[in-house]
Amino acid sequence: MQQAFSPVNPLTLPAWQSLQTQRAAMHGFSMPAAFDLDPQRFARFSLSHQGMLLDYSKNLIDVPTLDLLLQLAAQAGVPAALAAQYRGDIVNTTEQRPALHSALRRPAHGQLMLDGHDILTEVRQVHERMAELVAQVHSGQWQGFAGQGITDIVNIGIGGSFLGPQLAVEALQPFACGGLRCHFLTNIDSSEFYQISRQLNAGRTLFIVSSKSFGTLETLKNAEAARRWLLAQGCPHEQLCRHFIAVSSNVEKAVAFGITEKNILPMWDWVGGRYSLWSAIGLPIALMTGMDNFKAMLAGAHAMDLHALNAPLADNMPVIMALLGIWYANFHGAQSHAVLPYDNYLRSLPDHLQQLDMESSGKRVRHDGQPLDYSSGPVIWGNIGTNGQHAYHQLLLQGTQMVPADFIISARSLNPVADHQQWLYANCLSQSQALMQGKSLQQATEELRAAGMDEADVARLAPHKVIPGNRPSNTLVLPQLDPHHLGALIALYENRTYIQSVIWGINAFDQWGVELGKQLGERIYPLLNSDAGTAACDSSTAGLARLFRAARCS
Ligand code: F6P
Repeated sequence: MQQAFSPVNPLTLPAWQSLQTQRAAMHGFSMPAAFDLDPQRFARFSLSHQGMLLDYSKNLIDVPTLDLLLQLAAQAGVPAALAAQYRGDIVNTTEQRPALHSALRRPAHGQLMLDGHDILTEVRQVHERMAELVAQVHSGQWQGFAGQGITDIVNIGIGGSFLGPQLAVEALQPFACGGLRCHFLTNIDSSEFYQISRQLNAGRTLFIVSSKSFGTLETLKNAEAARRWLLAQGCPHEQLCRHFIAVSSNVEKAVAFGITEKNILPMWDWVGGRYSLWSAIGLPIALMTGMDNFKAMLAGAHAMDLHALNAPLADNMPVIMALLGIWYANFHGAQSHAVLPYDNYLRSLPDHLQQLDMESSGKRVRHDGQPLDYSSGPVIWGNIGTNGQHAYHQLLLQGTQMVPADFIISARSLNPVADHQQWLYANCLSQSQALMQGKSLQQATEELRAAGMDEADVARLAPHKVIPGNRPSNTLVLPQLDPHHLGALIALYENRTYIQSVIWGINAFDQWGVELGKQLGERIYPLLNSDAGTAACDSSTAGLARLFRAARCS
């Protein structure tokens, strides 16, 4: 396998240095004034792909800034890095692996050789097995221990083996077929198991144990709990195989757990967990919406990959979004980035993007192991837009931090009710406009005077009503939320994340940080049973362990 492009230290790039000068020159830049001066600003700073529109005109940029950002992408080798990733070069340098989630969504022809295997053939075979499974479950041919068809599927998995499937199952609810209910069992907190299992009829439930490693504590504990529960509900031991499917790259461990080999769908080490919804980890999506819709989602993602690979940098949606992220994180000191979908079906998008982006970009050293002396990824957060307006948008509008935001909305609702979509759209636009325009002291003063307030009260209240404005946002408009555009949207963010990692010179595909908590958890667990060993640990952990033991005994 070929090693990828050579990563750079962005601080050494001429464009980075020019951007620092540009940032100083942009001091005092006013977005409202820029809109007034340039009636073409929206046209100039927006682009579309697959019917999706990205309006990035409400950003702290002008033409020279954008030119410099594009030069930064070119100097950091973004086009070559995209090609390297797509080709299957080793882009995950610490684990010496390619990151080929793009291969999972390529059309069903052609070849891609990796270590002597054509992985596209393997992907096609898995899709065929998924299609068979979906057909068996939908037709009632797949039966539980009591000879009844399946009504409920329970995906047992966490992180990437949960968040992507959850997002897509929720987002594509209007496309549901097969009449199944889908549950996601993720947490080791037994309350979650209790709440889900009490809704189920054991004889009609199919558990999908989704774990790339088949070594994740939460998933294994929940799978064991599911097995115990099935047995307690009267499932004979030899019939357990009718209730378990596994998706894993560790077939041996899944077999050792007791899952029948023919019920195990493979995964590959060249797919990262947070990029895995396109693999058989997406089985819940296929079961809930049908294989055709699953494939339409793959096609949308593939089209976005081709766009990322082939569109000139200036017309490239993920490149533009990545560069704006860098502009704010590295030149404006932004510490967080809000994702605000104005679409109930996209309510889990921020959660999925949190893992996608923060596990990928939360790095402190470059590929060469040298510490970063610049910021990498910001905190990603967000929720349904309209709800946020009545909660945290106050901070976005008047807080002391600048939080760049992505507003995401569909032009058409799939469930129109009166003029709700129009109001939803108006709300979305009003928020990005308020962030951009703000309200000056003079405007606030005039408003209060016009309301008949006396001068003393006007002077007292007006400063509290000032909204600084000039706060950046993107608006992404989807024609409608369907499988194709959902695929494109998720792949847009995947490509954005990778492009940023290329510019920062970091590995977007490993996650060593999360290992420490897992290791320490193993050491702390025995302390909750006995005092032995507490002397060797810090007083906080020892004290909290003592409290747990006491609570259990009382
Ligand atoms: O703990 C983090 C993580 O390793 C994620 O990267 C991954 O998506 C998740 O755990 C689940 O891992 P697995 O699919 O191997 O159970």
